[in-house]
Amino acid sequence: MPVCIIYHSETGNTRTVAERLAAATGGDLVEVQDLAGYSKIGMYLKGAPRAVRGKKADIKPSVIDVSAYDIVVIGSPVWAGNPTPAVNAAVAALRGIEGKTAFVFCTSRGAPGKALETMQALLVDRGADVRGGVPFTERDMRNAGAVEALADLVRLPVKEKIVQ
Ligand SMILES: Cc1cc2nc3c(=O)[nH]c(=O)nc-3n(C[C@H](O)[C@H](O)[C@H](O)COP(=O)(O)O)c2cc1C
Repeated sequence: MPVCIIYHSETGNTRTVAERLAAATGGDLVEVQDLAGYSKIGMYLKGAPRAVRGKKADIKPSVIDVSAYDIVVIGSPVWAGNPTPAVNAAVAALRGIEGKTAFVFCTSRGAPGKALETMQALLVDRGADVRGGVPFTERDMRNAGAVEALADLVRLPVKEKIVQ
C-alpha cells in the first residue's frame, strides 16, 4: 500500500515530521513550495492573514497526482490557527484523491487552533476518506519517537488490508 506524504514547511518543522514519517512508513515525499517566498516577517504580515481567510497560494508543484497511491498524508505548519495557503492549494491540486484513505498532521508552537479540522474538511470535500489527524508541537520535534503516533495510524489500513 504505497503512501504519499505531502507537506509544506517554511522553517523545517513540518519537513522533519514528514521525513520521519516517510522513514517509518516507507512513504514517498512531496514538498509543496509557496511561490510567494515569504520573509520571516512576511509570513506574519501577509501569510497569516491569508491563512485566516482560507486563501490558496500559488504553489510548486501545481498539480499533485496521487492516483498511484493508496494512502495520502498531508502536513501543514499552523499559521494563526489555520493550515497555510500552500496547503489549501495543495489539497486543490490533488488528482486522483477521490476515495483514497487520508490522514493529516500539523506542527505548531502548541496552539493548533482549527488547522486539523480545516484540512480534514477540505479533503472530505475532495472525496477523500479521512481517517484521522495528529497535532505535533515544536517540543515534539526534539523527540524522534513522537511521530510513531501518526505512523501507527498510517500503518493501520495496511494491516487491515493484510487481514482481509
Ligand atoms: C505566520 C505564523 C503564524 C503562526 N501561528 C501559530 C499559531 O497560531 N499557533 C501556534 O501554536 N504556532 C503558530 N506558529 C508557529 C508554527 O506553527 C510552528 O513553528 C510550525 O512548526 C512551523 O512549521 P515549519 O517549520 O514547517 O514552517 C506560527 C508561525 C508563523 C510563521
